[in-house]
Amino acid sequence: MDIPWWRDAVVYEIYVRSFADASGDGVGDLAGIRERLPYLRRLGVDAIWLTPFYPSPMADGGYDVADYRGVDPMFGSLDDFDALVTQAHELGLRVLVDVVPNHSSSAHPWFQEALRGVGRDRYIFRDHTNNWKSTFSGPAWTQTPDGQYYLHLFAPEQPDFNWRNREVHEEFLDVLRFWLERGVDGFRIDVAMGLYKAEGLPDVGDQSFTSVSPVWGQPEVHGVYREWRRLLDSYPGERMAVGEVWTDDAEDLARYVRPDELHQSFNFAWLEAPWSATAFRKVIDDTLAAVPYATWVLSNHDVVRHRTRYGTDDPGAGLARARAALLTMLALPGSAYLYQGEELGLPEVTDLPDDARQDPIFFRSKGELPGRDGCRVPIPWTVDPPSHGFSPGGVEPWLPQPESFAELSVEKQEGVADSTLECYRRALALRRALAGEIPYTLEWLDSPEGVLFFTRGPLICALNCGTGPVHLPEHTEVLLTSGPLKRGLLPQDTAVWLRRAS
Ligand code: NOJ
Repeated sequence: MDIPWWRDAVVYEIYVRSFADASGDGVGDLAGIRERLPYLRRLGVDAIWLTPFYPSPMADGGYDVADYRGVDPMFGSLDDFDALVTQAHELGLRVLVDVVPNHSSSAHPWFQEALRGVGRDRYIFRDHTNNWKSTFSGPAWTQTPDGQYYLHLFAPEQPDFNWRNREVHEEFLDVLRFWLERGVDGFRIDVAMGLYKAEGLPDVGDQSFTSVSPVWGQPEVHGVYREWRRLLDSYPGERMAVGEVWTDDAEDLARYVRPDELHQSFNFAWLEAPWSATAFRKVIDDTLAAVPYATWVLSNHDVVRHRTRYGTDDPGAGLARARAALLTMLALPGSAYLYQGEELGLPEVTDLPDDARQDPIFFRSKGELPGRDGCRVPIPWTVDPPSHGFSPGGVEPWLPQPESFAELSVEKQEGVADSTLECYRRALALRRALAGEIPYTLEWLDSPEGVLFFTRGPLICALNCGTGPVHLPEHTEVLLTSGPLKRGLLPQDTAVWLRRAS
C-alpha cells in the first residue's frame, strides 16, 4: 500500500498575523509568507498550515470569521492566496488552511440576519440560559435586544452554529469545496469536538475540555466528518483533514480518526505531558496503541511555548529540553506539527504590557489570565529593531518584541552550527534521508531511570530526562544530538539519534 503523504509529514504552523509582513502595516500577510517560503523549504518541512486569514473583525485573531470564502484585506486578496498556493506547490510544500465550523463571527451575514429575527435556527438562540461558561471566561450566553440569548462557547463575537440545522452542513461542504477547488491540500478543523451540543442543553458540573460532556464530543459530530471525508476523497491528490480535538483520552481521540473520518487529529496529551520520561513514555504507548497514524505537537498559537513550559522548574534548562523534545518527537512514528518560531527557540513573552495585549482571554478574565499573546509575538528575522525584519522599514509590529529576540533572530542563527535553527534543519534533513529505512513501528529498549531508549529499524533515539549523564546504548554510532555529549555520555536534558553499528 502506498503511504499517504501526510502520514509522516512535518507540518509548519504559520500564525499569519505574526509570521512576516510585506505590506508594512505591522501585521503579517500572505505576501509576507510568499517571501519566506524558500526559508521554509530550506528548513525542511513538508507542509504549511495557515491560521485563518478570512475577513474578520479580529475579536479572536481571525477565529471569528465573517466570510468563509474570502481574504481579509489586512492579509491580502484571493489572488495573493492563489499565488501562495502555486508557489508553495512549486517548492514542494503542501498547504493546509483552517476551517472554523463551530462558530462564525457575529459580523457574519447569517448572524446579522439572525439578530433581525431571520434564520435564527442557524445559531443557538434560547429564551433561557443554562450554566455553561465560555472557554474564554464569563458566561457562554449573551442577550440580544429582543430578550433572547445566544450561545457562544468562546467570545460573544463568536456565536455557535446550530449543527442540528442541515443548512449549516451544506454551507460548510460548500466552503470546503471552495478551498479544495483553489488547490489546498487539506484542512485544520477548529474546535473539532464542538459543533454538536447535547439535546436540551443540560447544565454541567465541570465543562472543562473533557472528552465527552454535554458541551463537547457529542456522537453526532462524527457524522459530519464522515461526510467531509467522502468529499475530500472525491478530489484527487490525497486531500486531508486534521482535527483540533482536545482530549487526554487516546481512545476518544481514536474515534475521530476511524477509517471513514478524519485523517489525523492533534495529540495534545503529548504537548500537555510534563518533562518526564515516564509521562512521555505513557503518552507514546497510549497514542500508538489507540490511533492508526499518530501526530505529535509541542507548541501552537494557543499554548505557552514549550521552551518556557519545560523551564518552569529550571528556566535555564528550557531551551536544552525543547531541543531534546524536538529530536524525540521527530524520531516517533507519524506526523509532527511545528509552530513558527520554535525553530529559533523562542520563549513565551511573559512581560507584554497590558495595553499591548489583544487576546480576548485577557479581557474576559479581567486581566486575571495573561492569555495567548505571549506565544504570538512576531517572528524576528533580523537583528534590527524596531521589528527585527518582520515589517519593512521602521514599522512597529502589532505586538512588541522583546530585545532578546535580536539574538534569537534567523539572521543571528543561520549558519551557526550549534544554533537551534541549524539543529532543526539537521534533524529535518536527516529524518527525510532516513525515511525509507524506518518502519512505522517503535520498540522500547532497556534504559536507566529517567531515560528513554527506543528504536525504529536502524535508528535509535535516546532522551535523558534524568538528573545526570548516562551511557549510550552499546554498538551504536552518533548521528545527531540536541546538545553536546560529555565525554561520550548523554547529559541530562539532551537527546541523541544513533544508528546501530553494522
Ligand atoms: C482554537 C483556536 O486555535 C483558538 O486560537 C481559538 O481561540 C479557538 N479555537 C476558538 O476558535
